[in-house]
Amino acid sequence: MSEAAAFARCLAGGGIAVFPADTVYGLACDPEQPAAVERLYALKRRPLEKPSAVMFFSLPEALRALPELGPRTREAMRRLLPGPVGLLVPNPARRFPLACGSDPHTLGVRVPHLPRFAGVRLAVLQSSANLADGPDARRLEEVPEAIRAAADLVIDGGELPGTPSTMVDLRRYERDGEWSVVRAGLVGEEELRRKLHHQYHFDPASYEREIQAEIPAYGELQAAVAEASGTGARRILELGTGTGATAELLLARHPQASLVGIDESPAMLAAAQSRLPRERVSLRVGRIEDELPAGRFDLVASALAVHHLDGTEKRALFRRIRGALAPGGRFVLGDVVVPEDPAAARTPLTPGFDRPSRISEQLEWLAETELLPRVVWERGDLAVIVADATPAGIVASQ
Ligand SMILES: C[S@@+](CC[C@H](N)C(=O)[O-])C[C@H]1O[C@@H](n2cnc3c(N)ncnc32)[C@H](O)[C@@H]1O
Repeated sequence: MSEAAAFARCLAGGGIAVFPADTVYGLACDPEQPAAVERLYALKRRPLEKPSAVMFFSLPEALRALPELGPRTREAMRRLLPGPVGLLVPNPARRFPLACGSDPHTLGVRVPHLPRFAGVRLAVLQSSANLADGPDARRLEEVPEAIRAAADLVIDGGELPGTPSTMVDLRRYERDGEWSVVRAGLVGEEELRRKLHHQYHFDPASYEREIQAEIPAYGELQAAVAEASGTGARRILELGTGTGATAELLLARHPQASLVGIDESPAMLAAAQSRLPRERVSLRVGRIEDELPAGRFDLVASALAVHHLDGTEKRALFRRIRGALAPGGRFVLGDVVVPEDPAAARTPLTPGFDRPSRISEQLEWLAETELLPRVVWERGDLAVIVADATPAGIVASQ
């Protein structure tokens, strides 16, 4: 029998297992069996009023088990899990009451990345394999002898990172986007901010009002992107389509064109879908860090999305854009930049989430791909760059 199967069988039979999690050694039992839960707590000498996390071994299992969670919370889970992060989520259906200690309205959820337990479909109640307030066990030998002896199954996973998971409180996230770290751990706050702010930031209902308040020259930037796109494009790829405001201008300027738009936010794309002509657009949920849609485009355009990538990611994106352009095609980038004069920086930025680069470095990265770049519009910390692919057969000499 495989380790995963033995683990599942032990817990289903009411047993307790010592197992290697992604962080430290853990103790697991079936959260629906009171006798097992009581035995696990007694072994650790942990008071029953204290909560434990419920661990799932795949994200779809976790999402399936908690259908009442709202769309923002579910999206946050998709962004953060699997990984060494524990989430406190609202528990209106009072699921897994034995894991909730004295607060049935809150559930702690873990979905570690643990390939050895892939295929385990049970939810397990999980706590660290130590005595209450004792040190975490990084190696099996550090798990107290009494716990190892009393457990029904002990799985040795060698040496583990030893740092606990980062515990993030998402109980208010659905309502107002608030979150906080309640225990520091393997994943830092900057990474969390980058992953969580993204989606809350881009709420289609408020986006256009907010962007105009934050970037008064937004309309001018969009108009400059549209103008820089030239005329007569037939196939357009837009990166970070959002609610489709810039796509609408591009389609008006290129009446023969069809447009493929990608954006990582399904909610933003749903808003775009309702404003754009269905027969001319194909909208896809995707990240611009990943492979671009297949095909040769005579125009690739992006407004205010690429600055979310760091320098290395932008450079790699520019290479992929080069590969996606048809001979003689054009890339138009309208975005926030780091201005040469720091006093020109006006756009409010969130560290770790907005990561603009200088115009000069972006020109360099574009030129490296053998595109021919030039700046066609600048206003404070906003700029529009055009980069042309040479017609087939002509080698760029710039
Ligand atoms: C400021 S909005 C700009 C939307 C649109 N281009 C416009 O001009 O109004 C940025 C958009 O980029 C998307 N976005 C940000 N980072 C992304 C990424 N890494 N991959 C795909 N889309 C991303 C966001 O979801 C959001 O819809």
